Amino acid sequence: MMTSAEIRKKFLDFFVSKGHTIVPSAPIVIKNDPTLKFTNAGMNQFKDYFLGNRKAPYPRVCDTQKCLRVSGKHNDLEEVGVDTYHHTMFEMLGNWSFGDPANPAAGYFKKEAIGWSWELLTEVYGIPKDRLYVTVFEGDPGEGLLADKESSEEWSKWIGAERILPGKKKDNFWEMGDTGPCGPCTEIHVDCRTDAERLLINGAALVNNDHPQVIEIWNDVFIEFNRLKDGSLQPLPARHVDTGMGFERLVRVLQGKHSNYDTDLFMGTIAAIGKIVRKAYAADDSKASVAFRVIADHIRAISFTIADGQLPSNTDAGYVIRRILRRAVRYYYSYLDYKQPLLFQLVPVVAGQFKDVFPELHQQADFISKVVKEEEEAFLRTLEKGLKKIDEFFQEIRDLRQKNGLPEYKMYSDDPDSIDKGSNELYPFDFSGKLAFELYDTYGFPFDLTKLILSQNSIGFDFKIDEKSFDMEMQRQKTRSRAATALDTEDWIVLIDNPLTEFVGYDMLEINSKVVKYRKIKTKGKESWQLVLEATPFYAESGGQVGDTGILQFDQEIVEVTDTKKENDLIVHFTDKIPLNIDTEVIAKVNPDKRKAIEAHHSATHLLHAALRKVIGTHVAQKGSLVNEEHLRFDFSSSTVSDDELKKVETIVNEKIRENIPIVIKEMHKDEAIKMGAMALFGEKYGNIVRVVIIDPNYSVELCGGTHVGRTGDLGFFIITQETAIAAGVRRIEAKAAKAAFEYLHEYLVDPFEKIKKITKRKSKDAPIAVEGFIAEISELKKSLEKMELRQLKDIYTKLLGKVQLINGVSFIGEIVDVDNVEALKKLCFDLKNELKDYVVVLAANIGGKANVAVLLDEKVTETRNLQAPTIVKEHIAPLIRGGGGGQKTLATAGGQDASNLPQVIERVKSLLKN
Ligand code: SER
Repeated sequence: MMTSAEIRKKFLDFFVSKGHTIVPSAPIVIKNDPTLKFTNAGMNQFKDYFLGNRKAPYPRVCDTQKCLRVSGKHNDLEEVGVDTYHHTMFEMLGNWSFGDPANPAAGYFKKEAIGWSWELLTEVYGIPKDRLYVTVFEGDPGEGLLADKESSEEWSKWIGAERILPGKKKDNFWEMGDTGPCGPCTEIHVDCRTDAERLLINGAALVNNDHPQVIEIWNDVFIEFNRLKDGSLQPLPARHVDTGMGFERLVRVLQGKHSNYDTDLFMGTIAAIGKIVRKAYAADDSKASVAFRVIADHIRAISFTIADGQLPSNTDAGYVIRRILRRAVRYYYSYLDYKQPLLFQLVPVVAGQFKDVFPELHQQADFISKVVKEEEEAFLRTLEKGLKKIDEFFQEIRDLRQKNGLPEYKMYSDDPDSIDKGSNELYPFDFSGKLAFELYDTYGFPFDLTKLILSQNSIGFDFKIDEKSFDMEMQRQKTRSRAATALDTEDWIVLIDNPLTEFVGYDMLEINSKVVKYRKIKTKGKESWQLVLEATPFYAESGGQVGDTGILQFDQEIVEVTDTKKENDLIVHFTDKIPLNIDTEVIAKVNPDKRKAIEAHHSATHLLHAALRKVIGTHVAQKGSLVNEEHLRFDFSSSTVSDDELKKVETIVNEKIRENIPIVIKEMHKDEAIKMGAMALFGEKYGNIVRVVIIDPNYSVELCGGTHVGRTGDLGFFIITQETAIAAGVRRIEAKAAKAAFEYLHEYLVDPFEKIKKITKRKSKDAPIAVEGFIAEISELKKSLEKMELRQLKDIYTKLLGKVQLINGVSFIGEIVDVDNVEALKKLCFDLKNELKDYVVVLAANIGGKANVAVLLDEKVTETRNLQAPTIVKEHIAPLIRGGGGGQKTLATAGGQDASNLPQVIERVKSLLKN
């Protein structure tokens, strides 16, 4: 039996023999494409070649691409684990031809693509021919598309006509997303059923019918169009081949298994799960088996995305990862009866398995484990909270029922009929949809989880959730958030047919240029514009460095550029308007001061990175960065950093600044750069020729596309302003350089310190000592004050005890006392309580000109005299002091504006006892 590693290698070798160049997988997390968060197909990284925006470096390439299909147009999440052949993260084996009208012979099209697919599957891999079926696009009159006769003809050279099946647009016209490159495709399906089953039902009838044993393995797409925003198809300048084969499915077919999870790609992880939860994988449809599959699948998606730099979070791509992780937690929690973090224990297994193909996992295994464990712990805690919420929900329902004289639900009853359900509005069903939504929205509970918990744990009978009201709440929220973030992007209006933008901003901040194309964007009802220039000095946000701002000057009209971002390789300028004469020459000018400040922070980031590796260790890996005109933010994997280490780092960076080292930027081959010890980032896509920023070859060499100052001396000064933890094993340093550092120094350190010196009347080093002295003194003073107060209260208390008057059998104390706060009044009351019987006490104090009163009654007196403390306060005291108050039956307090009537207050309460 071929191992998965052999199968992968055979694919690549085969296409190399057909003139293809092997290219690396693109990162699974996509950074520069607003239409896509994750790579969902092998062709994503080649989108610009298909659209003609960029020229492909090789006419034919092949690879294995890490893909994730959990959001957007291609989303398989709910099927994963329930069936045995969908995955969140999977490898897509692909071969490509990038058409070049100038050199058609370099590429290929349907004849070769189809012929090679057949050759590889049947001859190299040896799949029996009578197990294969193919589908071909039957055309779509609505779109004005004809049937793909050419593919049918090519197939008929290899396979019987009865195995060539027509297919509709849904399956046989492949599109990357709502817009973008697309074209007809032909799919290859394998029938893995037993011979007996195959005799019974013709496999052709089961193709594209969700049969778990008759599955698609390969899709050959012939990219010919670009789908525009208005839905129309625009023919592309050249035709291309894009094929994608599901690696996990191929392995399953070749290893003769009935489930992808029974192959060597998953069995290691499944065995590890079994060991941890002490259960065996039954490979059936039970919930426990689904749980095994869900976990084995999801840990791959989670590990690969974290390795490529995407941490779980509350927004965007980070939230997708968080959801996948929670889905896995839910499965082990509910169906494998495992209530502690589990996923993180699997990271080494997955990392080991991919060590040779995707080493980034192995290199970061410890880090990934840490992040996953922390996420699991946090979600398990949330689960507990959510469970409590559910209990409260049922308690509320029970209370309501009791109040309305309805019989109580029997909790945990075995007898569903003993429960009165559905007969009135207090049946929990009516509330449950909303509850489920709240749990989903605030506690991150997937709906199924709530359903499961409600049915099993909280009440005895099979309780059903009101799914309709849950859906309604969900819909409402979606509409709300769509309205908040909706982005309506119109198609480009092309002025000059030149898709490439030249970036000249490394050397120039101003240039004469022309608008190549522009389009309108609407967000939250506000209109803005995006412009692409022939050549531009504007740096587009990337590698953590923010986009430039500045102006575009058309004749007499000035348009402000508010931001610059990349869309794949296009540099897009954001503006609030377009000029009247958009097709004239434009002077593009970057805001130079801002750019200078940004550059200082970018170079400072490199100095900081190198210093951290020197002080903390070379295991420090960059996990994200932000560089703008105000400051820099640098995230890196490390355990806690001590103050001493931070100081060392800061010192080294400042030393390097004073050395005034020239910053040398060179382009070179990637291998040469790596040899020089250049630091590359995980999850970044690098071409063969890379840009290297060198600040002393022995100190800092980094692959970087950003802009930098000329010499380190330009930074002037560097200061770390904050160091925090942002996730498990990830620290964040915030720092400033150049002018921003100088301003910070004054605003936050020098100026406040000058003030302290003035206040303490001490000189520099003595000032903090003086402040320390003051603080110690204050705490001493506080202590003696408290002691004094206690003594004083004790005196008052003794005096009060001597002033008891007996009125109609009630011990009455009514006094104006000298205390500083209401708490003291209350304390006196509490103390007196212990000494008296059948008492009524009223204590009044003038505190800072305001009236304060406390009334204390013996429980017995409240009954015999029908008096209550809050009533006395409200009816008799409040009007006299112009205030209000309240409290318990036996103790209430009041406060008011008028302290002149305190003697009357006492007389009034006393009078209540006289009759
Ligand atoms: N783009 C096609 C797919 O993803 C073939 O690679 O199926």
